[in-house]
Amino acid sequence: MSTDFNGGKRLKILLASRSVLQLKQTSQMLNRIRDCLVVPVVDVRAAIQHISQDQPDLIITDWTLEHLTAAELLQAIRTRTTWKEIPVIVCLDEISARLSVQAKNLGANNILTKPLSQILLSRTIAEIFPSGGGKKKDSTIINPSEIRAKLSRIDSLAPLSALAKSILAISNDPHSSAKNLAEEVKRDQSLTAKILQIVNSAFYGFHRQIGNIDHAIVVMGFDEVVNIALAASLLHFCENGRNFLFDRDKFWLHSIGSAYIARALSRYTDEVISKDAFVVGLLHDFGKVAMRQHFRDVFYRILAEAARRKQPLHHVSLELADIEHGEVGAMVADSWNLPIPLVNAIKYHHTPEQAGIEEKEVHLAHLANIFCHWNKIGKSGNTVPDDPSRISLKALGIEGIDLDEVWKSLKIDAQMVRSTIG
Ligand SMILES: [Fe+2]
Ligand SMILES: [Fe+2]
Repeated sequence: MSTDFNGGKRLKILLASRSVLQLKQTSQMLNRIRDCLVVPVVDVRAAIQHISQDQPDLIITDWTLEHLTAAELLQAIRTRTTWKEIPVIVCLDEISARLSVQAKNLGANNILTKPLSQILLSRTIAEIFPSGGGKKKDSTIINPSEIRAKLSRIDSLAPLSALAKSILAISNDPHSSAKNLAEEVKRDQSLTAKILQIVNSAFYGFHRQIGNIDHAIVVMGFDEVVNIALAASLLHFCENGRNFLFDRDKFWLHSIGSAYIARALSRYTDEVISKDAFVVGLLHDFGKVAMRQHFRDVFYRILAEAARRKQPLHHVSLELADIEHGEVGAMVADSWNLPIPLVNAIKYHHTPEQAGIEEKEVHLAHLANIFCHWNKIGKSGNTVPDDPSRISLKALGIEGIDLDEVWKSLKIDAQMVRSTIG
């Protein structure tokens, strides 16, 4: 939410924290950021009393206050007609997706995580109270509503190449034949070359060179070549260009590594066929490709901030842009009419608790991503992998099993996966 504010007026901020030291430090920080009057309070009762006497322009509150939490404060504010427009920034002691969602649902405008960064606090306040003044627009300032508006046109933003569309159609059609596949692939020389490079990599370990697609299908099987063709055709989507925080080749390796791991993990459950599992692993982070392509400055800023804070990328993304790559990827996948289980796997791979235990694809994507991180296969731009969710371990029937043993049993050699990229 953006509130018009006259930059000349002094900003009145109600600051709530149960720590007196914190109140002092944050007040100093706020005074360095803006000309403001800070009213410090330690509990919900005092906060409500101050709001009734002199309504602030902004409320910044810790989640945990004396006796009660910010939930009670938000409820009190949002249920009063005259107060409900007051912007509220909630500061969490640590990253918590659960509390972030709860605070948002109760009407918090922004969620920050402590320790507070002056830059971030400054940007957050600037987004709520744009002071104007004809300054040049900073392209790294993130405006979540602009992102949402652009994403509502995602089908035109992220067109699937005709080639990838055909390969997906072949992959989803039980009547497709090896001949259809070979014909489709041969239309594109660079795709053919990429597939042959992968097929001849150390990962597959064939002693003799495989020189054409027909031969590849004979020795590897239809499904495997479809998978590789799909992976290679989607790589075309991921434009060249390197950034020290996001390298296309390393990202590709993370995707293909997750695909092999998801397929191997799927053998723990007989409810997901391995062909689907491969695509689940391959596409789980595809939202990052779309973000990088369409919100490059924003995406790089989120990457940089997550790396600086050593926090999970999706948390920082939610905090700064009110969206994370899972949701973006799911929008893209949905616009491509990909199957719903795959769309949900992309959407919830960092929040599997939000999916049902029966949604095996979600849990495969979640765990495959973690194994890929643990075994340092490629890089996804995220430096802090999730902890394995209990619901995902349970869903795949590996709850209580030593995960090192699970990894060993997958018989995936990280070095071998790396060799596929050549
Ligand atoms: Fe991810
Ligand atoms: Fe990932």
